Amino acid sequence: MTRVFDARAEPAAIAFAADVIRQGGLVAFPTETVYGLGANALDADAVAKVFSAKQRLLNDPLIVHIGAANGGPDCIAALVEQSILGALSTDQEAIARKLARAFWPGPLTLVLPRGQRIPLIVTAGQDTVAVRMPNHPIALELIRRSGAPIAAPSANRFGHVSPTTAQHVLDDLAGRIDVVLDGGPTPIGIESTVLDLTETPPMILRPGGLVRAQIEAVIGPLRDCAANRALDGGDSPAVDEARPQPSPGLLSRHYAPRAELRVARTTAELIETRRALMSRGLSVGLLITDAQQADCAGLAPVFTLGYDLESVGRNLYAGLRALDSAGVDVILVSEVEAQGLGEAIADRLRHGSRRR
Ligand code: TXA
Ligand code: MG
Repeated sequence: MTRVFDARAEPAAIAFAADVIRQGGLVAFPTETVYGLGANALDADAVAKVFSAKQRLLNDPLIVHIGAANGGPDCIAALVEQSILGALSTDQEAIARKLARAFWPGPLTLVLPRGQRIPLIVTAGQDTVAVRMPNHPIALELIRRSGAPIAAPSANRFGHVSPTTAQHVLDDLAGRIDVVLDGGPTPIGIESTVLDLTETPPMILRPGGLVRAQIEAVIGPLRDCAANRALDGGDSPAVDEARPQPSPGLLSRHYAPRAELRVARTTAELIETRRALMSRGLSVGLLITDAQQADCAGLAPVFTLGYDLESVGRNLYAGLRALDSAGVDVILVSEVEAQGLGEAIADRLRHGSRRR
């Protein structure tokens, strides 16, 4: 049975959930990006349950969420001391410290050498581990009370759209996990930026809630992710789905709704594609911005994402899920320019729309 608590109204629920984590159970909790499905990161058996609840392949590593108790500029050294991180090079340590000071807690995940206490199941057998300090009071309190770092992927069924509300978590995982802490809709709505600090210069493996320019302002130019670039033309034969995934979302259908997702270049193309699909007997849902509302009046079902990139990011997954629930065959959305937060949004649209 899955117990659901409103963690805002019932603060005692966080203490209860922390007990569940300590006993090796699974707790879904809000972060500033999306809901995570957490287990004690130091307990291999508990982490194994995360993979089976999600039906996630064991070659896709999890993010280790750390608390604020070991925060501040010295948290990187503390993580090494606690053997959550392994020995860092002088450069890695300097860069990690700068980034932690600038952006933690926040939507930035750092890939660094794995410490001895992190079981291999967390990292899909790799000698690196992804760590981040989430910027959400419920997540931070849960980690603090659990007394351990929490390994958590997004709290959705494998390959599906990440959850941005407690209801989304239940839609995917009810009956498969112990607790859901409801903290309301997540403020950013797009997953964290994953940055690999074992590369020189560091490389973004997944664009996310922290934009590239902000990272570059602190540590200088980043390297391009070759794997992501190779995918731009569609499914890449270079990606072997059986190997540990160097970069998230490289599996052929990640971040995908049930309906087919299609990206149009312009509003005119969006409307024309809708007409063509409907003439073939298909049902079509539109995901649009406020600016497209007038042109798309009367073309139900329509889900409006808002007016700026922040609201598009916040509402995108809810929109995909809502149109899925409406039962449409195809979801149409307009292209987003890959600038600022648009880089992460465009990335998710690209992955979600990849042919099955
Ligand atoms: O915002 C987020 O990052 C959310 C919240 C819950 O924190 N978490 C999340 O987790 O999106 P997940 O598992 O859905 O995506 C994390 C990605 C994985 O796809 C994985 O490939 C990558 O991070 N990752 C984890 N460990 C890694 C490692 N050692 N090396 C490279 N990539 C890694
Ligand atoms: Mg995920």
